[in-house]
Amino acid sequence: MNALAITDAAAWRELHDQASAPYRQGGPFAWHFARGKLGYDPAFRGIVSRGLIGPGRPRMLDIGSGQSLFANLLHSMAGMQRAGRWPAAWAGTPPAPVYTGIELMPRDVARAQSSVGHIRPAPTIVCGNMCTAEFPACDVVVILDVLHYVDLPAQEGVLLRVRDALRRGAADRQGQVPGRLLLRVGDAASRRGYAISQWVDHTVTRIRGHKVSPTWGRTLAEWIALLQRLGFTVQPLPMSEGTPFANVLLVADIDTATSTPSP
Ligand SMILES: C[S@@+](CC[C@H](N)C(=O)[O-])C[C@H]1O[C@@H](n2cnc3c(N)ncnc32)[C@H](O)[C@@H]1O
Repeated sequence: MNALAITDAAAWRELHDQASAPYRQGGPFAWHFARGKLGYDPAFRGIVSRGLIGPGRPRMLDIGSGQSLFANLLHSMAGMQRAGRWPAAWAGTPPAPVYTGIELMPRDVARAQSSVGHIRPAPTIVCGNMCTAEFPACDVVVILDVLHYVDLPAQEGVLLRVRDALRRGAADRQGQVPGRLLLRVGDAASRRGYAISQWVDHTVTRIRGHKVSPTWGRTLAEWIALLQRLGFTVQPLPMSEGTPFANVLLVADIDTATSTPSP
């Protein structure tokens, strides 16, 4: 990589423009949503600038993927890195990312599919329920603001299958870096922020045509305990900067050296 001096702010502006541009093909809603979400949701910039994916995790599984913003983000990240337009302070990024998204709502899937046709290898976007869909072997799983749509036993079922998909991924690449789950959740112990995000979620999900409201929360301590019980090592990072929500990004790594997938 021929590293040119580029500041974090300039790189993020460029990435934001590049990653949102393809959503023009999905229509005005898809375009404005992509611009707004990538611009104002601190998770995307936070994950990129902290290097939480890293060059050693090329296969991403995005669960509850909405418009599959990560498909375009990863593609643009790889292109910027190839062009040497990548800040020295940011960790490297996978040069040829392989993206799979799983999303329940057909309209979101359609918007995603109309905006990823230029990407190679072609992303796989499945219209399906995360509680039953097959998870491919992968290196990093992203679940942003999704698990509270299903009840507590179903959440645990999804996380168990995530763990197994990460273990299968690590077995493929001989586990050089741990498989990683990036899970953003609301902290139900933080009453005000959690109540605000519940209200926003209820409103948005009704508008988007969901029949079920996202209501199944846990406190941050309960989320961490659950992940630890499943074998993850967890680091919580506040991830609601600039918003009124009580969101936390859990960076959960699975120790792959000693474990085998459960049947
Ligand atoms: C708040 S949105 C977040 C979208 C995306 N993760 C992002 O950050 O842009 C939650 C998404 O999860 C999806 N979802 C909810 N329940 C699901 C399920 N059982 N299986 C798959 N996707 C689901 C919703 O349709 C919605 O697109």
